[in-house]
Amino acid sequence: MTVSIASDHAGYELRQKIRKYLEEKGFEVLDGGAPNGTDSYSYVDAGIKVAEDVSSGRAERGIAICGTGIGISLVCNKYKDLRCALCTNEYMAKMSRQHNDAQILAFGERVVGLGVALGMVDAFFEEEFAGGRHADRVNGIREVENRNFK
Ligand code: RB5
Repeated sequence: MTVSIASDHAGYELRQKIRKYLEEKGFEVLDGGAPNGTDSYSYVDAGIKVAEDVSSGRAERGIAICGTGIGISLVCNKYKDLRCALCTNEYMAKMSRQHNDAQILAFGERVVGLGVALGMVDAFFEEEFAGGRHADRVNGIREVENRNFK
């Protein structure tokens, strides 16, 4: 599976560790965003990178990291038919797949430690979408997009 990962400067250090973890697990990783952790880099540009990789099909899933995870998840959720889940624990990451069929996992380097982040990443890639009534709800999200996105 190909995974796109990007961060702003505030998510840079955690991104390096997550990218290495994914590569060791055999994922093909598209890495983007801040080139280092010292120069300011907008979470908007980092979010665009992940969202466009997933939206275009270059990557099947994405991981989006900023200081809190809030800004970058907001950007990803502006793309039609992308569901980016901002998570702070493993249960949320698991449910984001099972119930919401999220394609992008977002979290904040200033919020979660490495152990929690790796647990969320594992849950996100292990869980399958449950479908059924949850598929109806995801279709409901698409209807909301169709009504409100220009
Ligand atoms: C950067 O200082 C910070 O604003 C950003 O990483 C993120 O937390 C925004 O939502």
